[in-house]
Amino acid sequence: MNLSLSIFHLLSALVVAYAQSGPEVASYFRKHLSNTSTIYLPLESNYSLETTQRWNAFSAPTYMISVKPTTDLDVQKIIEYAFIHNISFLGTGGGHGYSVTLDTVQNGIEIDLGHFETVSIDQNANTMTVGGAVRFANITGPLYDAGKEFQVGACSCVGILGATLGGGVGSYGGLHGLEMDALKSLRMVTGTGSLIEVSSTSHPDLWWGMRGAGFNFGIVTSATYQVYNFTHNGQAMSADFRFHASQNASLYEFARSFTGKMPDAFSIDIAIAYNESFGGTYLFANFIYVGPLEEGIALIQPLIDLEPFDQNVTMIPWKDIETSSRYGVDAVACIKGNFHSVWGLNLYQIDVPTLIAATNYMDAVYAQHVDFRFAFLAIDMYAPRVIESIPDEETAYPFRSAIARFLLDIGFSNSSRAAAASQVGRTARSIFIPTSGASTSNIEVYVNYGHGDEGPLGWYTERKLPRLNKLKNRYDPHRLFSHYNALEAD
Ligand SMILES: Cc1cc2nc3c(=O)[nH]c(=O)nc-3n(C[C@H](O)[C@H](O)[C@H](O)COP(=O)(O)OP(=O)(O)OC[C@H]3O[C@@H](n4cnc5c(N)ncnc54)[C@H](O)[C@@H]3O)c2cc1C
Ligand SMILES: *[C@@H]1O[C@H](CO)[C@@H](O)[C@H](O)[C@H]1NC(C)=O
Ligand SMILES: *[C@@H]1O[C@H](CO)[C@@H](O)[C@H](O)[C@H]1NC(C)=O
Ligand SMILES: *[C@@H]1O[C@H](CO)[C@@H](O)[C@H](O)[C@H]1NC(C)=O
Ligand SMILES: *[C@@H]1O[C@H](CO)[C@@H](O)[C@H](O)[C@H]1NC(C)=O
Ligand SMILES: *[C@@H]1O[C@H](CO)[C@@H](O)[C@H](O)[C@H]1NC(C)=O
Ligand SMILES: *[C@@H]1O[C@H](CO)[C@@H](O)[C@H](O)[C@H]1NC(C)=O
Ligand SMILES: *[C@@H]1O[C@H](CO)[C@@H](O)[C@H](O)[C@H]1NC(C)=O
Ligand SMILES: *[C@@H]1O[C@H](CO)[C@@H](O)[C@H](O)[C@H]1NC(C)=O
Ligand SMILES: *[C@@H]1O[C@H](CO)[C@@H](O)[C@H](O)[C@H]1NC(C)=O
Repeated sequence: MNLSLSIFHLLSALVVAYAQSGPEVASYFRKHLSNTSTIYLPLESNYSLETTQRWNAFSAPTYMISVKPTTDLDVQKIIEYAFIHNISFLGTGGGHGYSVTLDTVQNGIEIDLGHFETVSIDQNANTMTVGGAVRFANITGPLYDAGKEFQVGACSCVGILGATLGGGVGSYGGLHGLEMDALKSLRMVTGTGSLIEVSSTSHPDLWWGMRGAGFNFGIVTSATYQVYNFTHNGQAMSADFRFHASQNASLYEFARSFTGKMPDAFSIDIAIAYNESFGGTYLFANFIYVGPLEEGIALIQPLIDLEPFDQNVTMIPWKDIETSSRYGVDAVACIKGNFHSVWGLNLYQIDVPTLIAATNYMDAVYAQHVDFRFAFLAIDMYAPRVIESIPDEETAYPFRSAIARFLLDIGFSNSSRAAAASQVGRTARSIFIPTSGASTSNIEVYVNYGHGDEGPLGWYTERKLPRLNKLKNRYDPHRLFSHYNALEAD
C-alpha cells in the first residue's frame, strides 16, 4: 500500500475530531500496523521501560499512547491516523530535545522511532546509513572499528538526526563541518503523508530546508552521511582542567585570543560550575586537539602555566571523546527524567567582560539558591573555517558565522522552582545579549540550543523565513510538525 499525496489531501476534508481514547487508538494500530511494531499505553507497567524517556521532564509532552513503528509505511499510517482524528503527535529520536515548546503536545501520540536503530557503514564509499533514532553512542564504536571518524556532539545519548536536523555542532566540526553538512540523503515521511527521498537531486527545495529546520517538515526514518578517514590515526588530545573561579578572566582571555585563528583541529569548552569539594564556584574546561600531543600541549601551555588545581591531559581514540573527556560528565548528561531549564545564545565574538560578569552572576546564584548548585553555564567554541566554507545560501541553517555558543542548564527537582529557574536563565541570557555580536536585535540561537521562547526569527532568521514558510505550505500544509521550536506556532 502506498499513501499518496492526493489521498492525504482528500482525507483532509474528512477530519473527524471526536475524542479518541488511548485504548481505541491502540486497537486501531494493533490491527493496521506491521506486526513487529509495538504499542504502549502510559499506565502499562512496561511503558517507561520500553519507550524512550525524555531527558527533560519539565515542560514535556504528554501522550495517550506511544507507538514504536518498524516500517516507513507504519509511520505513514500513524501520521495519517493522527491527522484524520486531529490528535497532535511528536516523533522521538534520542529524547534529548528540551525546548519548552514541546509541551504543546498534550494527550497526543508519540511516534517513538526506537525500532529505527540500524547502522551500516560502507567502508569504501565512506558513507554511513542510520535509522531515525540512532544515537551517537551507537555509531562511534562501529565507525572507529572501520577506520572512520565523524563529527559528534557533546553527549553520547543525543539522537543523531535530532542534532543534525538543526545543524549539529561539536569538537570535530572544526575539521568536518556541521553534522548536517555531512548529510547525503534522507528518507522521510512528510506532513502530507508522502514517503520521499530527499537529496540534492530529489526534492532539492526540501533538501535545503531539512538542513537547519528539518523538524518542521516530517519524520526521517533513515539518513545517509559522508564519513571520513581517520585524522591523526583516530587519536586526539583531550585535556581536562579545573580552575579556581578567581582565574576566570585568564581562561576567557585565552579563548578570545583564538578569535579568527582557531586551528581546525582544536576546540574549546569552558563551564562555570559548583562543587563544595572544589571550593564552591569553579571553572571546568576541556580542549580537544586532533593531532600530536606536543602540538596540543603547545596550544594550551598558557593554561598549564596558570597551574589549574586539577588537570588530565591524555591522548584518546576519537570514539571515546564524548564518553571519557570532560571528566566523564557524559554519564551524568545522559541521565533522563530530571527537570531542566535550558537557555542558549549564539556568540559572534568572545567578550571577556561579559564572561566575567556571567561568572560573577553564577557565583551569586549558587550562593542564593542552594538547590541550583547543579547548574552549569558553558561556552563552546569550535573552529568555524570549514563551517563557513559552505555558502550561507546552500542550507537553511543561518548561523555559519557564529564562533561560539552560550548554554546554561539549570537542573531542579521540585516543579515549584520552575519560575525561579526561568528567572535565573533569562537573566544570564540577558547578560550575553548586548555583546553577542549578533547583527539583528532578535535573540539569535542555534535552534537545538533554544529555550523555546525566542521565536522563529531567533531560530531561523528573517533571511531564511520566507523560503522556509513556502516549504512549510508545500510539505506540511496542515502544520502537523509544529511542536519543536517551530516555524509557526500551533
Ligand atoms: C545533554 C545534552 C547535550 C547536547 N549536546 C549537543 C551538542 O554537543 N551539539 C549539538 O549540536 N546539540 C547538542 N544538544 C542539543 C541536541 O542537538 C538537541 O537537543 C536535539 O534536538 C536532540 O535530539 P534527540 O533526537 O535526542 O531528541 P528528541 O527530543 O527525540 O528530538 C528533538 C526534536 O527532533 C525531532 N526528531 C528527532 N528525531 C527525528 C527524526 N528522525 N526525524 C524527524 N524529526 C526528528 C523530534 O520530533 C523533536 O522535535 C545537546 C542536548 C543535551 C540535552
Ligand atoms: C483540532 O484540535 C484543536 C486543538 O486540539 C482544535 O483547536 C481544533 O478545533 C480541532 N479541529 C477540528 C477540525 O476539530
Ligand atoms: C508478521 O507479518 C509477516 C508478513 O508481513 C508474516 O510473514 C508473519 O508470519 C507475521 N508474524 C506474526 C507473528 O503474525
Ligand atoms: C506491555 O504490558 C502489557 C500488560 O501490562 C501487555 O499486554 C503488553 O503485551 C506488553 N507490551 C509489550 C510490547 O511487551
Ligand atoms: C544505542 O545507544 C543507546 C545509548 O544511548 C543504548 O541504550 C542502546 O542500547 C544502543 N542501541 C543499540 C542497538 O546498540
Ligand atoms: C580512505 O582510506 C582508504 C583505505 O585506507 C583509501 O583507499 C581512500 O583513498 C581514503 N579516502 C580518502 C578520501 O582519503
Ligand atoms: C572573575 O574574574 C574577575 C576578574 O579577575 C574577578 O574580579 C572575579 O572575582 C572573578 N569571579 C569569581 C566568581 O571569582
Ligand atoms: C564534587 O566533586 C567530588 C570529588 O570529585 C565528586 O565526588 C562529587 O560527585 C562532585 N559533586 C557534584 C555535585 O558534582
Ligand atoms: C583522564 O582522561 C582519560 C581520557 O579522557 C580518562 O580515561 C581517565 O580516566 C582520566 N583520568 C582521571 C584520573 O580522571
Ligand atoms: C516542593 O515545593 C513545595 C513548595 O515549596 C513544597 O510544599 C513541597 O513539599 C516540595 N516537594 C518536595 C517533594 O520537596
